[in-house]
Amino acid sequence: MHIPRPFSTWLLAVTLAAASLSLATAADSPREHLSLDANWKFHLGDDWPNALQLDKAGSSTGPASEKFGDNSWRSLDLPHDWAIELPFDKSADGSHGFRAVGPNFAKNSIGWYRRTFELPKEDAGKRIWLTFDGVFRDATVWVNGWLVKRHEGGYYPFREDITDLVHLGGKNVVAVKVDATKVEGWFYEGAGIYRHVWLDKTGPVHLEHDSTFISTPSISTNGTTVHVEARIANDAPEPKTILVMATIYGPPNSAPDGSYACAGESQPVVIAAHKTMNLAFNVEIPWLTRQWSPEQPDLHSAWIRLRASDETIDDERITFGIRTFAFDKDQGFLLNGRPYVLKGTCNHQDMAGVGAALPDALQYFRIAKLKEFGCNSYRTSHNPPTPELLDACDRLGMIVMDESRLLGSDSENLRKWEDQIRRDRNHASVGIWSVANEEFSVQATPQGGNVARTMQDFVKRLDPTRPVTYAAPQGDTFDGINGVIEVRGWNYHVGKDMESYHAKHPLQPNVGTEQASTVSTRGIYANDKARGYVSAYDDNAPSWATTTERWWSYFADRPWLSGGFVWTGFDYRGEPTPYSWPCINSHFGVLDTCGFPKDNFYYYQSWWTTNTVLHLLPHWNWPGREGQAIRVDALSNCEEVELFLNGESLGKQTMKRNSKLSWQVKYAPGTLSAKGFNGGKLVAEQKIETTGDAVAIQLTPDRNTISADGTDVSVLTVSAVDAQGRAVPTAQNPVHFAVAGAGKILGVGNGDPSSHEPDTFVPQLPVRAIAVNNWRWQLAELPARGKLAPQYAPDFDDAAWNVIKPKTDGDTGELVLQSGQTAIYRAHVTLTEADLNNPGVQIRFTGCDDRGWYFVNNQRVGESRDWQEQPLFDIKKALHAGDNVIAVGVKNDEGAGGLNPDVNVEIIGQPVAAPWSRSLFNGLAQIMIQATKDAGEIKLTASAEGLQPATAAVATQPVTPRPSVP
Ligand code: GAL
Repeated sequence: MHIPRPFSTWLLAVTLAAASLSLATAADSPREHLSLDANWKFHLGDDWPNALQLDKAGSSTGPASEKFGDNSWRSLDLPHDWAIELPFDKSADGSHGFRAVGPNFAKNSIGWYRRTFELPKEDAGKRIWLTFDGVFRDATVWVNGWLVKRHEGGYYPFREDITDLVHLGGKNVVAVKVDATKVEGWFYEGAGIYRHVWLDKTGPVHLEHDSTFISTPSISTNGTTVHVEARIANDAPEPKTILVMATIYGPPNSAPDGSYACAGESQPVVIAAHKTMNLAFNVEIPWLTRQWSPEQPDLHSAWIRLRASDETIDDERITFGIRTFAFDKDQGFLLNGRPYVLKGTCNHQDMAGVGAALPDALQYFRIAKLKEFGCNSYRTSHNPPTPELLDACDRLGMIVMDESRLLGSDSENLRKWEDQIRRDRNHASVGIWSVANEEFSVQATPQGGNVARTMQDFVKRLDPTRPVTYAAPQGDTFDGINGVIEVRGWNYHVGKDMESYHAKHPLQPNVGTEQASTVSTRGIYANDKARGYVSAYDDNAPSWATTTERWWSYFADRPWLSGGFVWTGFDYRGEPTPYSWPCINSHFGVLDTCGFPKDNFYYYQSWWTTNTVLHLLPHWNWPGREGQAIRVDALSNCEEVELFLNGESLGKQTMKRNSKLSWQVKYAPGTLSAKGFNGGKLVAEQKIETTGDAVAIQLTPDRNTISADGTDVSVLTVSAVDAQGRAVPTAQNPVHFAVAGAGKILGVGNGDPSSHEPDTFVPQLPVRAIAVNNWRWQLAELPARGKLAPQYAPDFDDAAWNVIKPKTDGDTGELVLQSGQTAIYRAHVTLTEADLNNPGVQIRFTGCDDRGWYFVNNQRVGESRDWQEQPLFDIKKALHAGDNVIAVGVKNDEGAGGLNPDVNVEIIGQPVAAPWSRSLFNGLAQIMIQATKDAGEIKLTASAEGLQPATAAVATQPVTPRPSVP
């Protein structure tokens, strides 16, 4: 059905929403997709090691329990990565970036998150889901004290139906224990809930999560067939007659007659109670549709509605692309049926300032940076990406090679692979699936081949529209995976192995899944092992790798190789190859960790774009080297380049395709300049001047206006200029920052691979300890299951009880109980009104041998079940000004036991903001500021000793915020 204009008002309203790709849900659908990112509480440390209890439902303790108080914890919004908040440590894992986390840092490797929220009574009858897009790494999740999920692995989403557990018309609490002890990769991976969390609500009959698949089996000049597949679930006790409708919207003005919506629907069917059902149908677009490409990322969207009795009972909006991806044995990669050279980069997911926890705006920032040098494709090495990265690739135009974390055909790995494919397959940008990367020990075995084939077949069942590859670090090897995979992936091995393999297997297409691994440091022009820097001339690569020029000039001449993916677009934390400590991040990037270009950026820009490029390196500030020869390179796509020093020609040279030019120049301060010619005509000019000392700081925002949505980010470049306003490429000044207005500082960076300065300055929570002394105790029967005993009551007279000896010689006298004995301990603590006006008050015990039930003023505040625990409870709610009574029922299972009377009440003050700073590295630093939900202005000031300070203002404009849980 093609809906011409004019049409009914309901469609108009929806069309407007769809045109802006709005996240809002239709008013008549019960579906709500709500962000649960804001207002979490966080505690670092394994202070409740026995919280997980498996004996009875709802029996977990500590923060897992509904009643636990978390006032003393830090407040934060997700996404969050606590690993970047930790110090660097030489004894930590270098491949992960030397942060003090992992097996040798038990205290820093477990974190707890809690989020409290209300649900209205009107949600009765709805299904309610909790979805985590990614947690690093192992997560245990409780809802209202019920254990709902134990999820292993740091990169896959997980979700649970929590309908049965929620309190409607009341408070709910989600508690998550995150264990980042174990690593998965050999690169920085972060720690914590570093991707989004969602709360979804639907009616009982609903579209199943990630089940709808939109594909375009036929695209021609006459039109496009859009195929819609959806799975419906009926979670209700009675059958229902339903149908699915799809309305397809094109990019603005895409239809020849000015109309812009086509619609189709399934046959009505009856779905039985408690059953699922697949429905499929086609929608015809009867005209030549605009096809998506990196150069013209035209998107279509589908509004999928589940209808019953003429009402919409569920709906979703899916953005998709009309385009085709394929590989040809001779022509290489084909986009929309035409040869298309993949000019790609591999990337990990972390960035300066924020670690693995990127707000969505930074995904767009990064993809836009890659596009600046002509990158048109992105490999999500070596794990499934966050969905917002794919959104950025859809919208900005970037073909994605979507990679799994691990090779495996066991049910768990296949379930994860299925989740990844279902979640990502509607994205316009996803062009190629990669089953795995460099599975050294199994790749050449028959079993490795079997498993890869199973994973590949799985793709073909769930998504027959895309090719499949494997990132193989092998040369001319056909055994195992290479022999079964659709497209031969090449990690390195540039040269004769490629030729001989291709000659032997001429029918198999090829792609450079991972190439280059060229190492360089921004603004450095000589290797410096002690400081961990590599020269930015295109000279250095590890034994398995190549220079930039070597791999690209080879691939560019061989269309059957399809182009390939540079290791890497951005520097990332960890893998400080070719060095180790004090170096903490990689040198492989075309861009540094902030996204500042290294010189190789201009090589790629020369040969990957049609812009006229002329770039000279190095900088021209070399005091003390007067008269010495300095190598000057020109990175350019001009046919000829002539170099000048202080106006005097140093000769004209002819550029070979995919190459660069070099001169040896006797250094004299002044102006190094170049002219670029095509066909003898001057087409480009470039100059570099010797600068004076820095006199002022400059701040340059990438965006002057951002959304006041509580998440949007402006990224500011910090630089230093001399008296003539020229950027000083050697400035290393420490810079201090202050922010005011409608935003906060999110992170800082400078791309220095050996910098140990903090990326983030976490507000400190001041702690004042008040000792709880004079404990008394007496043997007593304890009521079952931690119920109240009369001796816990504040007015109980304990004058005749035993007194614990004061602490002498480390002997606290606490081990007074014998095997099997039970006792009650009591002590008083006086607190003032002012103490209680602080955000949190907690009580910290040093040990209770073996089990304890804890009461404050007759209110139970928690329990402990192991003598090795150091129980910690937030007790603010149970306290009052004046005298308070702490009582503990103790059961000693075996040996000597009792309560350790070394107890403190801790008053947690208001968070104290730390001052932010970061040094310039070779002239540049970066600072990211994030908007609050208040429209207005963010004012950032940057100052450095002896330099004129700078101020930048970024406007925050009102927007409809993303629907979220209050
Ligand atoms: C590859 C590997 C990457 C990275 C790279 C460094 O073999 O796939 O993850 O380690 O080497 O050159």
